[in-house]
Amino acid sequence: MADLRLNGKKLILGITGSIAAYKAAELIRQLVKAGAEVQPIMTEDATRFISPLTIGTLAKREVLIEVFPESEDGSWTKHVDLGLWADGLIIAPATANTIAKLASGYCDSMLTACVLSARCEVLVCPAMDHDMWKHPATQANLHRLKSFGYEILDPEHGELASGLIGEGRLPEPESIAAFIGEWLDGQASTNKSLAVKKVLITAGPTREAIDPVRFLSNGSTGTMGFALANAARKRGADVVLLAGPVALPTPSGVKRIDVVSAEDLHREALKHADADFVIAAAAVADYAPASVSEQKAKKTDDDLVLELKRTPDVLAAIGERKTNGQILVGFALETQNGEANALAKLERKNLDWIVLNHANEEGAGFGVDTNRVVVFGSDGARHEFPQMTKVALAGQLLDLIVG
Ligand code: CTP
Repeated sequence: MADLRLNGKKLILGITGSIAAYKAAELIRQLVKAGAEVQPIMTEDATRFISPLTIGTLAKREVLIEVFPESEDGSWTKHVDLGLWADGLIIAPATANTIAKLASGYCDSMLTACVLSARCEVLVCPAMDHDMWKHPATQANLHRLKSFGYEILDPEHGELASGLIGEGRLPEPESIAAFIGEWLDGQASTNKSLAVKKVLITAGPTREAIDPVRFLSNGSTGTMGFALANAARKRGADVVLLAGPVALPTPSGVKRIDVVSAEDLHREALKHADADFVIAAAAVADYAPASVSEQKAKKTDDDLVLELKRTPDVLAAIGERKTNGQILVGFALETQNGEANALAKLERKNLDWIVLNHANEEGAGFGVDTNRVVVFGSDGARHEFPQMTKVALAGQLLDLIVG
């Protein structure tokens, strides 16, 4: 069945020089069938894998390749016009080379020029050989693209054109088209369920100083909390994001306050404790060194015992002064007895919802872009969510909490 979310959408489809370029033909067919307008842009290398005639015929549009085509006058501004026209820009397949260029801001083809000019959201669907995909250079480039706010649809595991088996396969056109539907839906500004609501979100780890150069912390990257802040803002909320030390860009329109320690987080959170919704996604250290050395501590030949003191429980403090109608949401990251521990936290901290995720499960918890959670409500509700990207999950969690 055609995806109604794609109807009337204006999309730029960038096609780069990978053997998977043949899948772009079917992808265009699917998108057009669902009612989208698709403007294809190919790199020179892509034309070696699939003919612009095939792509242009399926899209019912002229394929753009060069920034300065010989046949046309004054068309050099086309990338700017296109960048303003599109609702979404998708690159499928995206080669390691194009990803590297985008990460460095190159502007040496119609496609790269268009990406730099685009005001719409960008979705990158990488396809390459397993080792190219795993290479630290590719991974660092992808990390950089994510920091620009680009969405990445990870390649799949399977047989590759090289004969190797591994990660790097472009997903099938049907699943890319379905993902595009989800992705555009997530950005649509029609869902304003949090308009005029104040939402306080805590995100990332805290750092508890031992001395001027050392600290206790954890592996939280803040991804879930930042995705929630972005999703809440898109739903019209006034969002205050208290962020521990993380390397993430501030979602647009969100008021971000950087904090370091649990003590800082506690102080700032209490200033904003009047929020309609409080979502505590931060991995707050429960203990901090009892005293902080003013100078860098020098080692001796003896073992060292570090005395720790309790830090304030930020969410429990807000729970204690919870007001009527206020909704409090906590996260429980567990390695064992997840459900029992989560339910105990729900009660102890006076919460409305607790989101349970498992630290020892692949594709969930710290440092990955996906999560699999079970959410428990104070009214006895239990909602299980399948594994999905933290971006997608953020939207679904908010829909549950607000609903
Ligand atoms: N939390 C908080 N302040 C703390 C500790 C936790 O606000 N000092 C919040 C977290 O952001 C999370 C929830 O409380 O939403 C649960 O945190 P977690 O560390 O899993 O639970 P704890 O109560 O600390 O219990 P334990 O460490 O024993 O599992």
